[in-house]
Amino acid sequence: MTMELLPAALVHTELLAGMHRICFADPWGSDSLAATLSMPGAAGLIAVDGDSLEPALRPPGPAGFVLWRAIAGEAEILTIAVLPPWRRSGLGGRLLDAALVASQAAGAEAMFLEAAADNVAALALYQKREFRQVGLRKGYYAGKDAVVMRRDLHTIGPCE
Ligand SMILES: CC(C)(COP(=O)(O)OP(=O)(O)OC[C@H]1O[C@@H](n2cnc3c(N)ncnc32)[C@H](O)[C@@H]1OP(=O)(O)O)[C@@H](O)C(=O)NCCC(=O)NCCS
Repeated sequence: MTMELLPAALVHTELLAGMHRICFADPWGSDSLAATLSMPGAAGLIAVDGDSLEPALRPPGPAGFVLWRAIAGEAEILTIAVLPPWRRSGLGGRLLDAALVASQAAGAEAMFLEAAADNVAALALYQKREFRQVGLRKGYYAGKDAVVMRRDLHTIGPCE
């Protein structure tokens, strides 16, 4: 698999919205994604599989994305997802690592994120990447609780 991570820009908001629809029950539209990408300190990456070994199962094309924001010494994952055919192949971790490294390079000392308390896959990914729970927002997602997590960015090593 030749998976490239390419910078997300405003021209990609329709593409991002299409992936968001596949990955989330309450997806963001292209206008919200454009507004998100236009915020100060916002950035994103889109994973593109240009050379799939299993084109029937994993057609070449976009496979996932991450948007984050790094500003005033803090960073936040705004949204992250991997399309179903590419899940559990390390791509979510790779996207998250890239956001962590870029946020540290932008001067952030900590990264925050939120995940639904029943999102087993996301919580496992974040725990593996050393995020720790620092709060709980009751009923944040349409009646579901949100776990607030934080990771110190001083601990990122050169290999991540
Ligand atoms: C969460 C998500 C981005 C993970 O992407 P991914 O590419 O499958 O993640 P990775 O392959 O990098 O997995 C890294 C680790 O996370 C954990 N993990 C990922 N998916 C998991 C699952 N379904 N169940 C349990 N653990 C899981 C595992 O520890 C995994 O390591 P392992 O495969 O060596 O065991 C993906 O499931 C997704 O897009 N979900 C829908 C959108 C979403 O919920 N986004 C997050 C919102 S907060």
